[in-house]
Amino acid sequence: MVSDSDPLVLNGKTIATAMRNEVGEQVARLVADGGRRPKLVAVLVGDDPASSTYVASKARACEKTGMDGQSLVLPADTDAATLRQHLQRLNDDDRVDGILLQLPLPKHLDEQPFLELIRADKDVDGFHPENVGRLWLDQEALTPATPTGVIELLQRYNIELQGRHAVIVGRSHIVGKPMAALLLRQNCTVTLCHSRTRDLKAECRRADLLVAAIGRPGFITPEHVKEGAVVIDVGINRLTDRTQLEALFPNNPQRLASFDKRGSAVVGDVDYHRVAPLCSAITPVPGGVGRLTVAQLLVNTLAASLRRQGRSTAGL
Ligand code: GUN
Repeated sequence: MVSDSDPLVLNGKTIATAMRNEVGEQVARLVADGGRRPKLVAVLVGDDPASSTYVASKARACEKTGMDGQSLVLPADTDAATLRQHLQRLNDDDRVDGILLQLPLPKHLDEQPFLELIRADKDVDGFHPENVGRLWLDQEALTPATPTGVIELLQRYNIELQGRHAVIVGRSHIVGKPMAALLLRQNCTVTLCHSRTRDLKAECRRADLLVAAIGRPGFITPEHVKEGAVVIDVGINRLTDRTQLEALFPNNPQRLASFDKRGSAVVGDVDYHRVAPLCSAITPVPGGVGRLTVAQLLVNTLAASLRRQGRSTAGL
């Protein structure tokens, strides 16, 4: 059976704008109060177009809130010693509050040693083992921007989490695992599913809150969704096949026209057209979770800076 009312469409853009404005206000207050302007440096190795766009947009978003945002772009053939030197210099620079190493790195560089080299108190991605451990221990920590942004979205829409069954599909270090820890902190009962999970559809149908973070366009279908569930789509998949888009969004001339103009379209992990009628609330793609990641990164940068300046992060 299908819900008789339309789902609440959770507007990531509106929430992200509110978060950015709040960061801007706090930065202005910090500077007016004699504090130092927070600074983020986003490091990119190579020239992958999507990563270049992300890094530039992160630095620009910082500038818009009154924080300093810089990107450091290194050639694709940068060796490990050189990358280490750059990160060490940023670690040692007292004016730098946040360091972000854009992933993935080129194949010849193993990511983990570099993520561990970034000082934990400047690790605005929350990928350092110290921050990962602190998250699971419910201690104060910098936590990954995407799942933290999801919690912010749910809270700002007053969606009850306590005691509810959350099912996450995808066990990545960036989204699935930290999402599990953050939902556990909110007193959800958490199931973390992955590619080897048996009867995934049945697991997903038990969810009051279903988080899709798989990286496969339209993977979550009505068979995965309990009526009345809240569905959060973390997927950002670029489709270049028009027929695939038409199958996911039948009778949607707007989407097809946009595809024809750009030659591609971004879709989520959820088959939105078919799943939305079952849900009580759902995030769209685009305009949902994607917007929150950068907004939360700004919050993390401000938090790192306030702590480093010995100031309170209350209200963040
Ligand atoms: N690549 C994809 N997502 C992310 C992210 O959240 N942080 C970084 N540093 N790289 C990414």
